[in-house]
Amino acid sequence: MPLHLLQIAKKLAHDAGALALDYQKRKLKIEKKAEINFVTEADIACEDLIVSTIKKNFPDHSIISEESGVHEGDGEYKWIIDPIDGTTNFANGLPFFSVSIAVVHKGKPIIGVIEIPATHETFHAKYGEGAFLNGKQIHVSKNNTLKDSLLATGFSYDRASKESIANMKIFEDAYNAGKGVRRTGSAALDLCYTACGRFDAYWEFGLHIWDIAAGKIIVEEAGGMVTNTDGTILNPKIGKLLASNGLVHSKMIDVIKNHYS
Ligand code: IPD
Repeated sequence: MPLHLLQIAKKLAHDAGALALDYQKRKLKIEKKAEINFVTEADIACEDLIVSTIKKNFPDHSIISEESGVHEGDGEYKWIIDPIDGTTNFANGLPFFSVSIAVVHKGKPIIGVIEIPATHETFHAKYGEGAFLNGKQIHVSKNNTLKDSLLATGFSYDRASKESIANMKIFEDAYNAGKGVRRTGSAALDLCYTACGRFDAYWEFGLHIWDIAAGKIIVEEAGGMVTNTDGTILNPKIGKLLASNGLVHSKMIDVIKNHYS
């Protein structure tokens, strides 16, 4: 692995986060991608900053980014980017948004960096070397009952999907079983909060690879588990994700499978 890959990923996440915070102070140009799915000029500016720097430093690397899609390269590395995860929060002036950057080598995720600019928090993980928050190693929580667990979920933009409808019922059961259920509005942030033990488990349907890629390696390197919602190996293309501290994983699968299989 090029030695400076992690440093560049961290700098890009940091710089894009600072740029996003700067945009958030101004009146933003916002466009609709779908009925309730938006993109702001800040998403585009942050993405341009990240993508142009990667192309300049690593012209043969491939890139998948939420707003501009696929940039094919013929090298062994691929970057997966969400320039602003939590765009709805961001556009409404809320602090729950993040910049998510993952690097994959020959199909295997090797680096995840997520910057939460409003709280000055940088999460990162490198395959086999642990997960860190602002340079300090982090671990998932040790709760092994749902009763003691703070849970989190999210709802996809497709309100009519069978997953969204089922998730309302799952939310209710999880609310009754756990200490509480949060919905932050940024999947990457939810994964970071699971990695450092603020949440014990997080699930969501309808996610995309750019929402998941960096957070998955951060949770796993913090000692947690990330699977499909039925417990099988995560397929980022179908985006039905359950992340947890590992100890409450099967208990959450049981809650979910009552309403969705
Ligand atoms: C969204 C956020 C949100 C989740 C949606 C995602 P975006 O990403 O992660 O928490 O509920 O499913 O699409 O669109 O703000 O980058």
